Amino acid sequence: MNGKLEHVVLAYSGGLDTSVAIPWIREHYGAEVTTLTVNVGQEGELGDALERARANGAREALFVDARETLAEEFLFPALKANCLYQGTYPLSTALARPLIVRHLVNAALRHKADAVAHGCTGKGNDQVRFDLGVQTLAPHLRVVAPVREWNMNRADEIAYAAEHRLRIHVKPESPYSVDENLWGRSIEGGVLEDPGSPPPEEVFQWTGHPDLWPREPEEVTVGFVRGTPERLDGRSLAPVPLIQELNRRAGAHGVGRIDHVEDRVVGIKSRETYECPAALVLVAAHQSLESLVLSRDVLSFKSMVERRYSEVVYDGLWYSPLREALSAFVEDTQSTVTGEVRLRLFQGSARVVGRSSPYSLLSHRLATYGRDSTFRQDASEGFIHLFGLAPKLAYAKRRASGTPSGEGEETAAPRAVSPATPP
Ligand code: ARG
Repeated sequence: MNGKLEHVVLAYSGGLDTSVAIPWIREHYGAEVTTLTVNVGQEGELGDALERARANGAREALFVDARETLAEEFLFPALKANCLYQGTYPLSTALARPLIVRHLVNAALRHKADAVAHGCTGKGNDQVRFDLGVQTLAPHLRVVAPVREWNMNRADEIAYAAEHRLRIHVKPESPYSVDENLWGRSIEGGVLEDPGSPPPEEVFQWTGHPDLWPREPEEVTVGFVRGTPERLDGRSLAPVPLIQELNRRAGAHGVGRIDHVEDRVVGIKSRETYECPAALVLVAAHQSLESLVLSRDVLSFKSMVERRYSEVVYDGLWYSPLREALSAFVEDTQSTVTGEVRLRLFQGSARVVGRSSPYSLLSHRLATYGRDSTFRQDASEGFIHLFGLAPKLAYAKRRASGTPSGEGEETAAPRAVSPATPP
């Protein structure tokens, strides 16, 4: 086929696609296959992935627990940027890919492999993130994407697996493609492909059934230090357990469901369904704390940076000068993002109900309508006069030259309207 390879390191999830990929790579490229399984907090799957990799012909089966690094170096930096792609998706899958790529490349270098492989299809964003990441970090490595190259459907894959006596978990036929990590769970395919029909309850696993959502609200307090969440209800927690606890507690109340028509990098629109309880709670909390401690102009400028940051991450450009520059700006804004945020979890929603910070810019004496106000209301008149000076002048000019805009007839010339005569 596409030339021989010596040794390929395959990103191995333990699922059907990547299990079939092991003998397929050996046959098509004549290469030895080493698998690498990265724990990014996926709940299901992992199980006996390592034994399965070896049973299916891997020369060696490597494993990395990358959860802590994922949280510290990818999720929390993105949280500081309130990352929500298209205002909606907290980028769970997108944030884990560059970390998996880093481990894949490191393993390939250590084991002197000449290529890496992944199980992405040719229609999604993940292939872009893998290919671009590898090409950036280690341009000498070839990237093999068996699923993109072979023409097998699920039935063909199962037949191929039987022929090669592979050890696979053929789960009861599921039409869904699922990807999980600490920051969320993505579900695609099957009836979800119709953006007009509501997702069936069966696709949700982290957010329980609505019948089971508690009838009473629950409060949770998140404590941030310089933009990083460090406490829940006053208890210090490391990043991974903090995210896990929030996924569990908010998920139990149905918080985290996302139904999004998303624009993929490859130009396709697709309906995407997610469960991201911790991510949505933390972004809401972090945003709310920032509204208390950041100035209006920084908030406004930062929101532009956040949007671009989210697109860069989505597009697979984590390892790029732009992402690093945006990150540097975001980091710089976080020095006062310290404080506590209270949220109420109830029936699918997480609502901020309080926030406090030693760096709060909210001055009671300025904002209060009470007697102790120090705000000089008499200064407002002059302020408003100058604040609107330029637009007022421009408007007057245009009116004088007979090209008024946005001026309804009624403002131009007030006249009596008889209620009896329709216009
Ligand atoms: N649409 C999301 C993204 O591009 C999720 C992709 C999930 N991947 C999967 N193999 N199911 O980030």
